Amino acid sequence: MSHSIYVFDAYGTLFDVHAAVRRHSAEVGPDAQFFSELWRAKQLEYSWMLSLMGRYRDFWALTENALDYCLERFPAVDRAIRPKLLDAYWSCDCYPEVPELFKQLKQRNAKLAILSNGNPKMLNAAIANAGIGDSLDEVLSVDEVKIYKTAPAVYELVTTRFRAFPEAISFQSSNRWDVAGAAAFGFRTVWINRTGMPEEYHDIKPAAVLPSLTGLLNL
Ligand code: LAC
Repeated sequence: MSHSIYVFDAYGTLFDVHAAVRRHSAEVGPDAQFFSELWRAKQLEYSWMLSLMGRYRDFWALTENALDYCLERFPAVDRAIRPKLLDAYWSCDCYPEVPELFKQLKQRNAKLAILSNGNPKMLNAAIANAGIGDSLDEVLSVDEVKIYKTAPAVYELVTTRFRAFPEAISFQSSNRWDVAGAAAFGFRTVWINRTGMPEEYHDIKPAAVLPSLTGLLNL
């Protein structure tokens, strides 16, 4: 096996960010899918904006702000849903292949970590809910450096913690922009293109593309 340190993005890669709205889709109504996508898009937009401005508020605050924006954009959606959607975010479903993959990687003595925009509390709740905590050697959050992906300081958390060169790290993300940031930093990257999205960052290519995390061990 060529890589012994596997680092995973959290939201979208291990945990399904659309699970919260899906769980309450009847109450959100006919625009549920667009609502969920806008919630996610705004959450990320705020992370990039703050980072460019040299400011920081944690990912939970951005998640709440983005949801409030969506509730204003969709006035037909009853605001009583707000606490339910936020609660559901703490227990986002984990993708079905994740527990088995982690087990197999540990059997091969790989080191496993999460590197995420999420704050430690959110991450720990999602990890506990998925029951994958025992497989993880490290849970790294941007909260330590107070700047969001794709700032190099974020990816550097991994090389510092593991005392490894970037090329020794296999980094998996379903977010193409995160893959670009990680590849620019020097990681070997695998884009988990779960929804068949088109290629965007043509000059910063991933080493491999997979439709799910299944198959990672065969690369
Ligand atoms: C994360 C973002 C990309 O988990 O959702 O870092």
